[in-house]
Amino acid sequence: MGKTKTKFVCQECGYESPKWMGKCPGCSSWNTFVEEIQEKKTKKNSRGITSNKIMKLKEIAVEEEKRISTSYSELDRVLGGGIVNSSLVLVGGDPGIGKSTLLMQTGDKVAKQDLNVLYVTGEESARQIKIRAERLGMDSDNIYILAETNVEHIISSIEKLNPDLLILDSIQTIYNPEITSAPGSVSQVKEVTATIMRITKSSNMSTFIVGHVTKQGSIAGPRVLEHMVDTVLYFEGDTQHSYRILRAVKNRYGSTNEVGVFQMRDSGLEEIINPSSFFLESRTENSYGSVIAASMEGTRPLLIEIQALISHSSFGVPRRVTTGVDSSRAAMLMAVLEKKAGIQLQNSDAYINVIGGMQVKETAVDLPILCSIASSFKEVKIDQNTIIMGEVGLSGEVRGIKDIDKRIKEAQKMGFKRAVIPFSNSKNVKKDKDNIDLIEVKTIEEVLDVLL
Ligand code: TYD
Ligand code: MG
Repeated sequence: MGKTKTKFVCQECGYESPKWMGKCPGCSSWNTFVEEIQEKKTKKNSRGITSNKIMKLKEIAVEEEKRISTSYSELDRVLGGGIVNSSLVLVGGDPGIGKSTLLMQTGDKVAKQDLNVLYVTGEESARQIKIRAERLGMDSDNIYILAETNVEHIISSIEKLNPDLLILDSIQTIYNPEITSAPGSVSQVKEVTATIMRITKSSNMSTFIVGHVTKQGSIAGPRVLEHMVDTVLYFEGDTQHSYRILRAVKNRYGSTNEVGVFQMRDSGLEEIINPSSFFLESRTENSYGSVIAASMEGTRPLLIEIQALISHSSFGVPRRVTTGVDSSRAAMLMAVLEKKAGIQLQNSDAYINVIGGMQVKETAVDLPILCSIASSFKEVKIDQNTIIMGEVGLSGEVRGIKDIDKRIKEAQKMGFKRAVIPFSNSKNVKKDKDNIDLIEVKTIEEVLDVLL
């Protein structure tokens, strides 16, 4: 220890100094110095690339990557078809969302395929891990637990065990003793990730790294971390609701459009193969302001219930409260309703809610939101066998949306009898829809005429 020299580097301009400095003499920015280990010369071949000769693009041979299935079809799909050999995957998410649970269960499933799994925990003791494992009903022989935070000790254990899958929980707790900064600091997170990457790339082992998310919503530590790894997954959801969404935000081995849906239960995480039925399960009996919308999560259609409650405002400034949809988008839709449909909402409070705690950011839910507001205002129910989709423009026109066919198919699958769709999409719809009526609309007046 102490043999390796460290230096401090400005993250803005690259100015190097043997000591930490508050202000950078190079670019005058403050608090940008980060400690790094000095000798970096041996890392040249850190990615395991052996020859660097020029090749013709045509002549480069591509072999299919070797992958391990996690036995979770939701996770496999998000990864692009399973865990790629020698890949480094970062799993980020809020504390308590279920990252450790997901990776423990994944480790168990992988270990059952006669592969060695090493689970390194820097957050919990081996005993706590055991208690969780019992709760989750884990019983595979090949899963090993190491409660350790020193990266050098972790490496010697990896060399001893030679695991096929390594899980590091979490990167913020693991440190390199040669660096004086505290675990979780930018220098430590960077250095430890670089070390783990070197071993992962030079062996057949794949690695999952857990990273906590800060209040600002990015993984704590440097953005650099996201650049270094092959795949970045975010595990999202809120602790009030049981469903969780696993989203790929970067993937060198697959698409970033995929999401996986899980449900947190007493016995651990379970995948939800049919999310629409999960979100429509507790659907309210036909009531004012309730509308079923067809939205997309990644490449998959998802049917959700949107509710609006419009009530007389007893205060000067009416309240506008939304959960699950963008509040400025909702305000815009209310303005369109006032201008184009003569629905006066100036003296009304408006509450809009997506059932189940889902967040929808798509503009395809404009029309369903607008219909739910109008339905609650007029106290007219919208038929519960009707599904609504479409974007709304400022002059009250209904605009086309993507993936129309997938949404209609999902609605058919879930037994809907009628779908309100944008007129401009009608040419993209395959003409094989026998058990569902399609109502093609151009303006919101037309929609409200049909529905209310
Ligand atoms: P955890 O995986 O520890 O979250 P993270 O690693 O992201 O911090 O899970 C935390 C929560 O999940 C905890 O509040 C309890 C709950 N939980 C269940 O509901 N069922 C279970 O089987 C387990 C293991 C956890
Ligand atoms: Mg955890």
